Amino acid sequence: MTVSAALARRRSVRDFEDRPVPVDLLKDILAQALRAPSGGNLQPWQLHLVLGDRMDQLKALMQQRVQEHPGGEETDYDIYPRGLKSPYRERRHDVGERLYAALGIPREDKLGRMLQFSRNFQFFGAPAGLFVAIDRSMGRPQWSDLGMLMLSVMLLLEEAGVASCAQECWAVYPKTVGGFLGLPQEQMLFAGMAIGYAKAAPVNDWPVPRAPLDEVLRVHGA
Ligand SMILES: Cc1cc2nc3c(=O)[nH]c(=O)nc-3n(C[C@H](O)[C@H](O)[C@H](O)COP(=O)(O)O)c2cc1C
Repeated sequence: MTVSAALARRRSVRDFEDRPVPVDLLKDILAQALRAPSGGNLQPWQLHLVLGDRMDQLKALMQQRVQEHPGGEETDYDIYPRGLKSPYRERRHDVGERLYAALGIPREDKLGRMLQFSRNFQFFGAPAGLFVAIDRSMGRPQWSDLGMLMLSVMLLLEEAGVASCAQECWAVYPKTVGGFLGLPQEQMLFAGMAIGYAKAAPVNDWPVPRAPLDEVLRVHGA
């Protein structure tokens, strides 16, 4: 598969088959993804792969935590800026509406939407989960390096026929996840990623638009 085909085909998948992904394949993909570039070659990522029994335990723990604390825990960082401004606010709203429309969950069905959101914490049924953490001393440039690593992982998964969904929602439960993973105090959880084989389901089959190129690009000198 070419890089352009993997980029074109990758999408966030939010319903997975209950079929394990071979651990050797995942480790091979993670080893390859370490080729991702990082400023100063700091490679500021720390990775945790959760599978099998530990995945079952994490899902059970999260089911309980989400019920007890639906509003989450004290967070280490703001997932979105407070008072998200235009056009970002509209883009976020739009993708949310498209997702719920694909699932047939109307705006008034607050419980339905909440339950769908809470599926994040079951990795949408995926058998594998990846967590990405970073040393707390790192700054914005190093956080951008985490994105390079994550996209590299997602494209390699795509090439191997494995689907994924990046999930920053995990940052809403940093204490629970940090405790479960045994994250040292100096490490901060950035995001998770659901990994598995995609189910053929409407939630995995709706177009996610992008702003046109001329909205984000200004060419200088041509
Ligand atoms: C860093 C990051 C975190 C994300 N967190 C979540 C999440 O917590 N839950 C979720 O359902 N989707 C999450 N997404 C998926 C985005 O909503 C998705 O990438 C975006 O809407 C574009 O859609 P596409 O990935 O299908 O192309 C995240 C994506 C990224 C890159």
